[in-house]
Amino acid sequence: MIADAHESESRAQAALLSAYIASATFWLIVTTAVGVLLSFKFPFPDLATSPYLSFGRLRPIHTNGTFYGFASVALCGLSIYIAARSSGTGIFAKPVAWLSLALMNVAAIAGTVTLDLGMNDGSQEYREWLWWVRLIFLIGVGCSAVVTAGTVARRAERPIYIANWYTLGGFTFVTVLWIVALIPSYQVGVGQVSLQAFYMHNAVGMWFTFVALGAAYYSLPKLLNRPIYSYSLGVLAFWTNAVFYPVIGAHHYEFSPLPWWLQTLAIVFSVGMLIPVFAGTANLLLTTRGGWDIVRRSYALPFFAAGIAYYFLGSSQGTFEALRTAQAYWHFTSFTVGHSHATMYGFITFIIWGAVYALLPLATGRQPSLLLTGVHFWFALVGVTLYVLVLSIGGTLQGIEWASGNPFINSVEAAAPFWLARAVAGTMMFIAHLVFAYNVYVMTVPQRRAAAAKAQPA
Ligand code: HEM
Repeated sequence: MIADAHESESRAQAALLSAYIASATFWLIVTTAVGVLLSFKFPFPDLATSPYLSFGRLRPIHTNGTFYGFASVALCGLSIYIAARSSGTGIFAKPVAWLSLALMNVAAIAGTVTLDLGMNDGSQEYREWLWWVRLIFLIGVGCSAVVTAGTVARRAERPIYIANWYTLGGFTFVTVLWIVALIPSYQVGVGQVSLQAFYMHNAVGMWFTFVALGAAYYSLPKLLNRPIYSYSLGVLAFWTNAVFYPVIGAHHYEFSPLPWWLQTLAIVFSVGMLIPVFAGTANLLLTTRGGWDIVRRSYALPFFAAGIAYYFLGSSQGTFEALRTAQAYWHFTSFTVGHSHATMYGFITFIIWGAVYALLPLATGRQPSLLLTGVHFWFALVGVTLYVLVLSIGGTLQGIEWASGNPFINSVEAAAPFWLARAVAGTMMFIAHLVFAYNVYVMTVPQRRAAAAKAQPA
């Protein structure tokens, strides 16, 4: 009887995690196909000129879709699964978890279609979806938050495992963030600029960073079969991230009409961010110490190694980039786009992949091919590294041309070869995503067939 209940809970968890990851993978493919098209429009501006395929409509489809359709859905699914496994209990309110997935998908479909029809809520980056679409998404994430918190509340032991600190912190903050981003009276005047700084940077730092680190804090010890190096270092990184991050968004608006003191505070706190970044990186790396032969033989650990390296590199780069002298050259250039992909792709996306390869086979009992996982890893890693490298060089040349007061076209000519190289890098990344989608198919669909076969009466 108890064994049956346990078996049915495990099957329910596997089905839920599979559905979240399959859905996130669908959005990864759609939105990064759009990313590849966007990247080819730089060297070939006359490519695909219909209004439905115009740069202005496709760019927010790519950014909102990768953020919310792909990364948020994947991280919600992983957070719910991790809450149950680390708390030694079943998932709380499973129908709400399914409702959450449905609502986030309705929002992603409605957001993508309305943006492509030219309907948007203005130029506020990462919240161009119409307000009612964002409201649907907020309710969807809220449902995932309730399920995760409800599951942790049923935990077998009193202490809350460090991974759940991070995921619950992420859910708390993202709810505040999305509510603030929806209140109409906040969306006017200069106040809108500071609110946008708060929203856009915290979507990355207080949502994606928190939940991705939560996934790493659960998966790494599990894969290496050893405890996390230091619980205290994890807590220190958590609280310093929560103190410094909320204020740093204004570093995107240096030399703007925002108060000078706010810009300076954002720079000082950007330097303060070195504390959680160093503490978090050290904690995760020290957890793997002496286990590098396991890393080499594992499907998932190389993704974590790359993700942690990019966490360190991308975040430290962000601190340096926030200084006024650096902003004077790099602001508005392609350098920033390189930085965005170092963090959202090199860090967040690689950690998501590591957690998927670590946890999905455990849930479903199906392993992908080691060769194809290697192909995914290397195409994605070489692709993103090339992407970041060429945009860093191209963006710097752009900035130097602007600062020299030369004609604008000179900056376009200087960056053009690097934009072409970015399109090649983006194509490599997209091939990696197709391989990942096949691996997800192997890890999920046969499991569902096996479950269906089991459910059939003999
Ligand atoms: C095949 C993979 C990808 C390609 C080819 C690609 C390409 C692009 C392109 C061409 C842009 C517009 C850049 C510009 O306006 O100058 C862009 C922007 C952006 N993409 Fe991607 N992308 C990819 C994957 C991703 C993923 C997986 C994420 C997040 C999880 C992401 C997040 C972003 C963000 C945040 C921006 C805005 C950058 C900024 O304004 O600083 N991208 N991407």
